[in-house]
Amino acid sequence: MLKGRHLIEPGDLSVSEIDEIISLAEQITVDPISFQDVCRGKILATLFFEPSTRTRLSFEAAMLHLGGTVEGFADASYTSSSKGETLADTIRVVSSYVDVIAMRTPKEGAALLASKYSPVPVINAGDGGHSHPTQTLTDLVTIRRLLGDYQGLTVGFCGDLKFGRTVHSLTQALSRYKGNKFIFISPKELCLPEYMIEQLDEKGIPYTIAERLEDVIGELDVLYMTRVQKERFFNEQDYLRLKDSYILDKEKMKLAKDRMFVLHPLPRVNEISPEIDDDPRAAYFKQVKFGMYARMALIAKLTGAL
Ligand code: CP
Repeated sequence: MLKGRHLIEPGDLSVSEIDEIISLAEQITVDPISFQDVCRGKILATLFFEPSTRTRLSFEAAMLHLGGTVEGFADASYTSSSKGETLADTIRVVSSYVDVIAMRTPKEGAALLASKYSPVPVINAGDGGHSHPTQTLTDLVTIRRLLGDYQGLTVGFCGDLKFGRTVHSLTQALSRYKGNKFIFISPKELCLPEYMIEQLDEKGIPYTIAERLEDVIGELDVLYMTRVQKERFFNEQDYLRLKDSYILDKEKMKLAKDRMFVLHPLPRVNEISPEIDDDPRAAYFKQVKFGMYARMALIAKLTGAL
């Protein structure tokens, strides 16, 4: 039963609940008109304490496509949090107006904290370097639409694996499905956090670590590129030194399988050359559209509309 639940990280959902949401998202993908009234009369709040293009706008588009309405903010400096209101009080107030809340913050754990004060579902739309579960639902819908399933795959994660919350969430989700193995490609300074490595080791999930994308790209079914997360660095010099560690271009794509798809949560900066945007394996703009359908499915389930 998903009605009324919070979603803070992918582990809050069982495997069968994830599959239920993904299957609904796929139904919506093929026939969105059939779902245009399921949230009529319901309100989504989008509380974004950190910048966003895709996540906020796709949440809002998702609710509008379901027949509901939206309110919220994209810049917390215009809210009473700038006067010192606590997150707990903000959530107590907003949750008395709306049926579901999607929130993004730069602070790890803030969405979990918010959920403690909310009688309506809180959806984590990204909390610092921790988790981004609706990006994971987006990624799973995309992988299933492109490759037929999200089991038995070799998935390469490339770039900033330290701060990349989308990497953490998707790795945890794919670890729960049979036959997946991972290749983590990053500079040493941006490698996957130790707690993530421990989780993989405890579960006996196969993975390898690489520094050169060229050495491993030929093994992959999915290449998940990520941006070096400037906003999470303490030191500008380190960011400048690491920001162009990987640039996916036509030469590297020649080494990849014909059916290896390139995903990226976006925004990209320099890590995917625009010269591959027309390659049929470049799936990152399709992924954006699937994200809206994934969020439609999630909102419909958590609000009890479906
Ligand atoms: N993928 C993603 O989270 O993008 P935004 O930061 O633009 O929401």
